[in-house]
This record gives sequence, structure tokens and C-alpha cells, in this order.
Amino acid sequence: MLKDFELREFNPYIDSKDDSLQLEGVSLKALAEEFGTPLYVYSASFIRDRIRAYREAFPNALVCYAVKANFNPEIIKIAHSEGAGADIVSGGELYAALKAGVPTDKIVYAGVGKTIKELEEAISREILMFNVESRMELEILNDIAGRLGKKARVAIRVNPDVDPKTHPYISTGMKKSKFGIDISRAVDEYIYASKFPNLEIVGIHCHIGSQLLDISPYREAVEKVANLYQRLVKEGFEIRYLDIGGGLGIKYKPEDVEPTPYELSELLAPVLSGIDAQLILEPGRSVSGNAGILITQVQFLKDKGIKHFIIVDAGMNDLVRPAIYDAYHHVVPVESKGRNHIIADVVGPVCETGDFLAKDRRLENLDRGDYLAVLSAGAYGFAMSSHYNVRPRAAEVVVENGEYRLIRKREDYDYILMA
Ligand code: LLP
Repeated sequence: MLKDFELREFNPYIDSKDDSLQLEGVSLKALAEEFGTPLYVYSASFIRDRIRAYREAFPNALVCYAVKANFNPEIIKIAHSEGAGADIVSGGELYAALKAGVPTDKIVYAGVGKTIKELEEAISREILMFNVESRMELEILNDIAGRLGKKARVAIRVNPDVDPKTHPYISTGMKKSKFGIDISRAVDEYIYASKFPNLEIVGIHCHIGSQLLDISPYREAVEKVANLYQRLVKEGFEIRYLDIGGGLGIKYKPEDVEPTPYELSELLAPVLSGIDAQLILEPGRSVSGNAGILITQVQFLKDKGIKHFIIVDAGMNDLVRPAIYDAYHHVVPVESKGRNHIIADVVGPVCETGDFLAKDRRLENLDRGDYLAVLSAGAYGFAMSSHYNVRPRAAEVVVENGEYRLIRKREDYDYILMA
């Protein structure tokens, strides 16, 4: 097991008391006993620190927290209370952001498949900007805005064709991806967009991918976007916003080194120097990812001779990242009892071979009933959870300065099966 000082590199609010882990001074075991497992626990101070770090590194930028990473309105509210807006990708996320009190002039809306209903909702709310992903979307957005007697502010999402060197499923800025329009055709698209009476062309948007530990592709992408900005200005466009998306990677493995918002700002400063537009950032994972821990309880232990299995009560329906991206999440016992170590797979109860949380890990020889902490679970954890196998989704708790509160209660069977 990592020592607690090593765990603090994931989240500085983790420590241990009597060999039992705490987050912001709250015992994880006590939370598991009170609320049951699987349980998501989030550190509010961590989220606050991250938004502040972005705002300090980019003092003039608008930081729009990417709601897709964790849509609990209480989480959005914490980010918003530190000055963040919201980056949304659906009508549901718009609803969640509004419920959290995010003002509409701090909301940007991307997504390749916005429906008429979703566009209507966002146009009537007069959100800051639509990040439009296709020519057809421009046409429909213009029609709906006209019908509602509104003007929609638009950025076109451009695809800079940069390899973000991350998992292919979360690379979004390459030529063959479904996102955005090809940057080489962008000027024509802007000219086309400028003909619509109900659209106001105000920005450029790009997002190249997620979990970038090496931030150099960011610079390459923003150079291309800055170049497009200059060409558009020459064409007479008034580009007020440069939205460069999210993507900063986080520590999942003990050896991962996280880039910081400050490093990103240093890297981009020379590229952005001649640009007279407000920067928008859309961080998700780097805000909430390491704020969150998933606590799960050991149900059974199984020794199959060639392999040990630790079977826990959190499955791929609770945290799907290992199953779909082969993602690594660090797993540690909530209570360290100084026992021998074994090499084991930590697996869930779902009827799929892909239902694992960790493979071939060196872990203390646990007992039935012990708790495990799955780290870095605050982004794309609960947000991607499902009801597969009629499994109610986990409860969620926020901790801050020694206090805690339930922000989402555990579901029951009737909730899942409601007609
Ligand atoms: N902006 C846009 C337009 C995006 O598509 C995304 C993420 C973000 C911002 C936030 O990116 P972040 O700062 O969180 O990297 N489910 C995957 C991640 C999918 C990311 C999708 N888009 C995972 O669990 O790794």
C-alpha cells in the first residue's frame, strides 16, 4: 500500500488516522458504515483549489467547468462558487447547470447531436455561446433562433487535426473524428455562417482530447486556432471568444505527473499574445477527478490457484472506465492492518468478464467486509454509471473541513423500474 503521504499526491486532503483513511478529516470507514457502499465521496476543497488554480493561471479567462465529468448539481455549485461557468453537452446538463445556479452568460454548449428541444431550451435561456459542430447545425440553430425571436451566439468547433497522444476513445481533435469541422475549411464555414440573420458569430472552439499528461499537443492545436483567428479578423469577423476546451490529464497511477494550469498558461502565453479575445477553458477531469474516491466493500475472496480475486460490491455499472478504456485506478484498503500482500484482481459483481476495477494488483490480504478506496473516481465515475443488472446507483457524499453531507441518496429498485 502507498503511504498516506504518497496518497496525498493524488489529493492533498487524504490522510490517515490510526491506519484508517480520511478525506478532509472525515473517516472513509465511518462514511461507508453510515451510507453503505458503493459510495462516492468528494472533497470540496480540492474542487475549489482546482478552479482557483485555473483562475490564477488564466486571470482573464472564463473557466467553464465541464459538467460531463460530474454532473451532481452540488459539485457544479462548488465550482460555480469559485467563479466557474459551465461547459455543457446536453439539455440535461443545461438543466443541471441552471439548477446549480450557474448564470446563463457563463454557459457554453458543445455536442455533435443537439436536438431541436435542446436547442430551443438553450436559445431561450440566451446562453453565452453555442459551439456548433456542423453546417447543418448552423442552419437549424438559425431557424430555431428566428422562430423564437432571438439571436444565438456561435463559435464553430474546429478540428485542428492534432494527435493528443491519449486513449483513442477520448481523442477528439483528429481529422477522422466526428467532432467539429476541418480547420482547413474553417474560413469558408465562417463566411457561410455569417449569412444567417439569427446567428452572431463570436468565437472559435476546439477541444483535442482528454487526459493529456503531455501538454505539447495543446500548443500545436492552439497555434492553429490562433492562426485561424488572425485570418478571420482579416476577413472582418469580430471574434470575442477563443474556447480551447478541456483536457488536462490527472494522476491515475502513482508515477503519473500531472500538468498544472500554470504550466499550460506558460506554454500557451506566446501563442496567445497577439489575440484580442477572451479565453474560455473547459476543464472537467482536472477539477473533479482526484476530488473523488469510490468506496467499495469486499464481498468474497476467491483463490483460483493461479489467480486471486477480491470480489467487491462496486461494479462496472458504478465505474466503467476500467472496462471500456482499460483505465487504471489506484486501489488501496481503507484500513491498513499490516497483513501480508497478495497479487489479485479486484472485480465487481456484474456478469461480464470486463467487470473489473483493478488487475494484478499487490494488495493487503483483505477479509470479507473490509473496505477499499478506488482513487481518482470523481470524474467520469458516477457520471457514466448505469443500472446494468438492475443495480441501483451509488450514493454521493461531499466532505469539507471535517464535515460531510449526502448530495445524492442511493437509488432503490422502484426508481430503476419506474414506468
Ligand atoms: N470540452 C469538451 C468539448 C469535451 O468534449 C470534453 C470532454 C471536455 C471539455 C472536458 O475534458 P476534460 O477536461 O475532462 O478532459 N469518459 C472519458 C472522458 C471523455 C471526455 C469527453 N469530453 C473518460 O472517462 O476518460
